[in-house]
Amino acid sequence: MNPLMEGFEGVIDPESPEARLIESLSPARLPRHVAIIMDGNGRWAGQRGLPRIEGHRAGVKAVKATVECAARLTIPILTLYAFSSENWKRPEREVNTLWGLLKQYLRSDLETLQKNNIRFDTIGRTGELPRMVQEQLGYVTRKTSSNSGTRLFLALSYSGRTELVDAFNQLLQKGRTVPVDSGDIEANLYTRGLPDPDLLIRTSGEMRISNFLLWQIAYSEIYVTEVLWPDFRGIDFLQAVQEFQQRERRYGGVASPALQNG
Ligand code: FPP
Repeated sequence: MNPLMEGFEGVIDPESPEARLIESLSPARLPRHVAIIMDGNGRWAGQRGLPRIEGHRAGVKAVKATVECAARLTIPILTLYAFSSENWKRPEREVNTLWGLLKQYLRSDLETLQKNNIRFDTIGRTGELPRMVQEQLGYVTRKTSSNSGTRLFLALSYSGRTELVDAFNQLLQKGRTVPVDSGDIEANLYTRGLPDPDLLIRTSGEMRISNFLLWQIAYSEIYVTEVLWPDFRGIDFLQAVQEFQQRERRYGGVASPALQNG
């Protein structure tokens, strides 16, 4: 049996398509960091004649399913783009509903995070969020800080450009007067100390990066699925990982000799 099945024992049917996918994966070649642009909530709701907010509500179910699948698969880091710096331009009612859903998620899912040994954290200008949300985020971050399994990062009030602006300003504040190198910049990003995403997933078929982790995705493998975020489940996550494992990563170099000759 593939050791990756261990985390799913008693949870999925060994004859199911999910089980077949897991069996096909190589434990040695799991992505260390998966980042996801969760897109399509509004379209999902529109297709059903529902208000956009209902798409976000359904999107929370996809968050829960994906986080749990990543943890069972022992993915070390999962970063979810939950609210961009640009999302502040949305109607106030939609923005407030998103904060409501986030608070509800943090309250109802703390137990699940603990049970799955998940360590929760955030990236972004979280100081811009409503105070109650900041407090709840701080509470869940502290409560899960000694968990040793998957690290879950929510990107909130986040954009790749503001992250770079913040990194440069931090360097200036530290009194930097000599030229910087990429190591200096990396050491001042929100993601300092973390490996870059190996795999970037985007749902709903759009071929855009949308200001997400601009520095960190330099060599990420990109996987775009037509599935709208509210419909995204563990099986979709597993399919993305399977495709990732079939990619050949060259980082600007050349194919390995075995592949070049064969
Ligand atoms: C993109 O869909 C989605 C968002 C801007 C918000 C993501 C939020 C959630 C998944 C729910 C809350 C999250 C947590 C972590 C509890 P869109 O509205 O841009 O969809 P569209 O492109 O179809 O309009």
